[in-house]
Amino acid sequence: MNVLGIETSCDETGVALYSTERGLLADALHSQVDLHAVYGGVVPEIASRDHIRRLLPLIRQVLAQAGVARPDAIAYTAGPGLVGALMVGSGMANGLGLAWNCPVIPVHHMEGHLLAPMLEENSPEFPFLALLVSGGHTMLIGVRGLGEYDLLGTTLDDAVGEAFDKSAKLLGLGYPGGPALAALAESGNDAAFALPRPMLNRPGFDFSFSGLKTAVMLVVREAIANGSLDARRVDIAASFQRAAVDTLVGRTLQAARKEHFERVVIAGGVGANKLLRKDMAERFAGEVYYPRMAYCTDNGAMIAVAGALRLADAKGAGEIRARARWALDSLSRPGTGAT
Ligand code: KG4
Ligand code: ZN
Repeated sequence: MNVLGIETSCDETGVALYSTERGLLADALHSQVDLHAVYGGVVPEIASRDHIRRLLPLIRQVLAQAGVARPDAIAYTAGPGLVGALMVGSGMANGLGLAWNCPVIPVHHMEGHLLAPMLEENSPEFPFLALLVSGGHTMLIGVRGLGEYDLLGTTLDDAVGEAFDKSAKLLGLGYPGGPALAALAESGNDAAFALPRPMLNRPGFDFSFSGLKTAVMLVVREAIANGSLDARRVDIAASFQRAAVDTLVGRTLQAARKEHFERVVIAGGVGANKLLRKDMAERFAGEVYYPRMAYCTDNGAMIAVAGALRLADAKGAGEIRARARWALDSLSRPGTGAT
């Protein structure tokens, strides 16, 4: 069974073809980063227009690359995300589904991130604890099986990716700042500034990143005032990254211990962070899994594999879905309820 995956929830157009027998057959991505960079953030209307331009050529490219004339099913990101952007993928998936007379599967974007490690040869077995970290989410999820998700902790304010991006902006690193800040941090002294590790001493597994962001703002302001920003930029970046990673790893270890998880999965855009991967592997006594870098950030392959695992939820084409908000823990096991 070949499943075409379509991702258009934000600023990447991702398409992939996944075979339930042979694994990933082809995969293509177009990033809109350059289009949005001049505005310092994602402009939804520009995102939608670019998805319209890119999507069909990418689908043609992926099918040609795989040597497949048409897929057996089409999975698309139905939310959460920018509604105009989601509509492009949803409309295309349903239109092609009608033309090809094949089922379509609406996929939850964060479930796609969560299942991305299944694309790897060494993939985790259930149950596992997932740290889902992206530009819009910071969640700790107890995963008992497919669609059996307990939300153990979430952020009370900013997502960690947002904290990376906003701190990067304060440091003058442009958009999207997360990867740029991480690259800069590699050569800095991470003990140069004492920044807070929010929430680690509080009960429960929730996160908060607005205090850390404010602390970075104060440090940057002081550096600007005394003319040292250029000299201190790398150290501020390293100190911020260290504080953010300590918080993520600390919380994950607390949850794993209390809830008795022996496997941890790191997924989502911030999961591409090298320090986060390294620290988790060093500090967690059990097994740590994460997708390769390219499948941490938004991509079509994770939507294709999630669709393949949710074939039981396939619908006839014609019902266009696009949800700005959609709770991950409202999902159920494949074939058992509304997705
Ligand atoms: O999952 P993703 O591609 O899109 C969303 O669904 O949000 O995540 C994007 C986020 C951005 O905030 C970006 O700055 C962050 O992931 N990110 C990183 C790294 N690579 C991407 N943050 C820290 N270190 C990285 N290496
Ligand atoms: Zn994402």
